[in-house]
Amino acid sequence: MTKEEIKVFCPATIANISCGFDVLGVALDSVGDEMIVRKVSEKGVRITKLEGQDLPMETLKNVAGVAGIELLANSDYEGGFEIEIYKKIKAGSGIGSSAASSAGAVWAMNELLEKPFSQLQLVKFAMEGERLASGVAHADNVAPALFGGFTLVRSYDPLDIVTIPAPIALYATVIHPQIEVKTSDSRKILKTSITMETGIKQWGNLGGLIAGLFKEDYELIGRSLVDHIVEPIRSILIPGFDEVKKAVVQAGALGSGISGSGPSIFALSEGASTAQNVAVAMRGVYENIGIDYEVHVSKVNVDGVREL
Ligand code: HSE
Repeated sequence: MTKEEIKVFCPATIANISCGFDVLGVALDSVGDEMIVRKVSEKGVRITKLEGQDLPMETLKNVAGVAGIELLANSDYEGGFEIEIYKKIKAGSGIGSSAASSAGAVWAMNELLEKPFSQLQLVKFAMEGERLASGVAHADNVAPALFGGFTLVRSYDPLDIVTIPAPIALYATVIHPQIEVKTSDSRKILKTSITMETGIKQWGNLGGLIAGLFKEDYELIGRSLVDHIVEPIRSILIPGFDEVKKAVVQAGALGSGISGSGPSIFALSEGASTAQNVAVAMRGVYENIGIDYEVHVSKVNVDGVREL
């Protein structure tokens, strides 16, 4: 019997991962939104409930609505969908809040329609949600949210997503200082060109990070978590950024950087206990500065969006 309704978990994601601006991302296990999507006879997509964040419920102003409309436009399904969104990821946090909603909506709809679309097609639909949220249809949050694990956007045109294995003991710690940085704003301050010298450093690290993930070489992963292009500019928007970077390495992290467009800061560690020590170190910095924060410690989520 076909399902009429589905409840899903939509993971938070860390995009960029230092050296992979707009191309690299990873899904998290311990933090994400929940969503209920149901088939209805009325055409179109309606957001019928939105709890946890103050976000628009009008279909065309909501990322889940826009992503869903894109899926419907490519489907021969005659009916529509209702969506209930239970946000646990704060908007403007830098851990893929809009991507979780966009990816969750299209994944759930695809399940209810008995999977007419491939994961890659779902990424394309969900990217329309990102276009609404940030002005640019980047895929580095929606791809890991849908595929799970680490993903590389090898090419945007044509869209080509490569999944990358995650070493088993790799953990992420993320601190979210309670200030909002809009992705659209933090993109506007970036430079539009880089020098050859900077490019050489950056793609050395990107290759190193991907090789480190494949080889399960934690030291190589750590050495490669360097961003010569975006972090020097965006870190100015994040209070305590340099202190956090120093503190996490002292606590044993492999390396750290800005999560997505910030203000969250992520660190990667080998093993859960180191990741917890890193959380303590991060908290210490923000306690001193006097800014409220939330901390998440998470294994890599290898499934992506999943049914609850
Ligand atoms: N790659 C995007 C950016 C991710 O850094 O603007 C946004 O979460």
